[in-house]
Amino acid sequence: MSGLAGQSLAGQGVAGQGVVVTGAGHGIGAALAEAFAAQGARVVVNDLDADSARAVAERIGGFAAPGDAAGAEGVAELIAAARKHLGAIDVYCANAGAAVGGGADAGPKAWATAWDVNVMSHVRAAEQLLPDWLERGEGRFVATVSAAGLLTMLDAAPYAVTKHGALAFAEWLSATYRHRGLRVHALCPQGVRTRMLDATGRAGEVLLAPTAIEPAAVAETTLRSIAAGEFLILPHSETAGFYAARATAPDHWLDGMNRLQQTIDQGTAKTPEKG
Ligand SMILES: NC(=O)c1ccc[n+]([C@@H]2O[C@H](COP(=O)([O-])OP(=O)(O)OC[C@H]3O[C@@H](n4cnc5c(N)ncnc54)[C@H](O)[C@@H]3O)[C@@H](O)[C@H]2O)c1
Repeated sequence: MSGLAGQSLAGQGVAGQGVVVTGAGHGIGAALAEAFAAQGARVVVNDLDADSARAVAERIGGFAAPGDAAGAEGVAELIAAARKHLGAIDVYCANAGAAVGGGADAGPKAWATAWDVNVMSHVRAAEQLLPDWLERGEGRFVATVSAAGLLTMLDAAPYAVTKHGALAFAEWLSATYRHRGLRVHALCPQGVRTRMLDATGRAGEVLLAPTAIEPAAVAETTLRSIAAGEFLILPHSETAGFYAARATAPDHWLDGMNRLQQTIDQGTAKTPEKG
């Protein structure tokens, strides 16, 4: 995080702020927690994996609040514990996610898990946080979505569809409450070298691995985008071009994605191409 040291946060500095990061025992969440702490924030570290939550909290001088950050009960408990420790929550990073693969036949359990962890965790957190934030006239919601929410993820329909849902909810929050002091950010990386990437199999190998970046780089871009007041956080510079192609030339974009699917099916990896 040395690139951020001493950088002006244009009146939006996080020093002293109370920050919650879900799924922060590993990967992107751990890097976000570390980056916020390095900027002087007071960080609550959540993860289902209690040992890893405690280890990260200890490393960064944060507070561990292990538990489920997706179900209604778990979210309520986490937010109560965080408020007790922090006084108030200034920033909530809804980062925990589930990499659910499969297609139309993935089955009801897989679809329900993806919906619960990737979308409803955000809705439930917002339900708990909004009354206080609207009363105070400020609050910041950082949704870890994915480039899959702007584009798609091959071989993982439940993941792609629910990440689109997470993006839609973040957009709705921002459009609805911007004038009342709520700041919303949608973090949309392509491949990031974490345990989740390791578990994405052949599609991850073809689509994500060739341009994968480190979690620390994602966290650095996130803090920069927060400082700049940007809704969309794009750690990979090429994502904006793919997103524009999807909007302006959808058939061309879909042809390109389908070629990648054929590459996955044939078992001959090649670097993803634009469009
Ligand atoms: N790795 C990538 O390539 C990539 C790309 C785009 C988006 N993302 C998103 O980034 C987020 C973090 O993923 P990651 O790559 O760091 O994976 P990761 O597996 O390294 O870390 C995810 C953490 O979330 C925790 N977790 C899962 N469900 C939880 C729950 N219900 N409550 C609390 N904690 C829970 C896990 O225990 C784990 O420690 C996810 O939302 C993921 O969809 C990842």
